[in-house]
Amino acid sequence: MPTAFPDAAELESVLDLAARAPSAGNIQPWRWLVDDRGVQLFADWTRSRGDTDSDRRDVLLSCGAVLHHCAVAFAAAGWSSRIVRFPDDGVLAAFELEKHPPGAGSVELAGAISRRRADRRPYRGALPAGTIELFVIRAQRLGVQLAVVPAGRWARAGDTEFGLGYGDSPSGHPGDDAVMLVLATDTDTDLTRLRAGEALSGLTLSAAALGLATCPLTEPLRDARNRLALACEVFDGEAYPQVLVRIGPSTVGAPLPPGQRRSVAETTTFDLG
Ligand SMILES: Cc1cc2nc3c(=O)[nH]c(=O)nc-3n(C[C@H](O)[C@H](O)[C@H](O)COP(=O)(O)O)c2cc1C
Repeated sequence: MPTAFPDAAELESVLDLAARAPSAGNIQPWRWLVDDRGVQLFADWTRSRGDTDSDRRDVLLSCGAVLHHCAVAFAAAGWSSRIVRFPDDGVLAAFELEKHPPGAGSVELAGAISRRRADRRPYRGALPAGTIELFVIRAQRLGVQLAVVPAGRWARAGDTEFGLGYGDSPSGHPGDDAVMLVLATDTDTDLTRLRAGEALSGLTLSAAALGLATCPLTEPLRDARNRLALACEVFDGEAYPQVLVRIGPSTVGAPLPPGQRRSVAETTTFDLG
């Protein structure tokens, strides 16, 4: 155990806030172990929706999102973290924590955690100038590429469903001014999927802090042909699309209610001798 370490109440409140992270189908596929070595994150594969490569990707992206949410929550609570990814077999990440006064940026991002929702409604209006450029830079810092999906290549397929429009697939999203972004990585490994999940979290929280609505989407990437066509068109075939993100000015409608989450007691083992 490091010399300074958050107490049980602080840990519980940080992990509770981190649990607000988005996850595919809200499966929340993560486990935490708090012991003498610190705080460690594991994937809970029993919560995966299946055994396909896309299901595995969803688990790792979602774990990346909760990892980033957790670092933001720790920072706002006065703990800076050094994250070691894949330190041991089966461990996705370990936090090394140090007392550090919270900066304005982390307080703002942590404040956005409770406001962020996966908003599937149409968005109206244009993004403020420079928004996408800002997100590109932030994703790059995590080794993740971000690009815009051409507007004619994605479609609203219903009230809550979206698709990519390559080949015979439909395209068009009348009445929805959203921009579709894609986060992609140079290689397609467990580590880069985790990193893409962290970048997804950073993007959705920064957007919420700016008053923008977002919705992560991986369903449209389950079609291998669409995924490959997108990779070829947007990244010259040199990157692996991991997750799409619809983004736009917040809709005029009422704020969406928060989704259900598992409690800290359900996801966390405290083993503090
Ligand atoms: C990796 C990932 C993939 C997702 N894919 C989809 C999707 O394809 N379609 C969709 O409507 N929502 C998708 N979501 C959004 C989740 O359904 C949403 O985060 C979850 O239900 C919790 O709701 P909240 O984000 O509003 O808290 C995805 C989220 C993540 C993190």
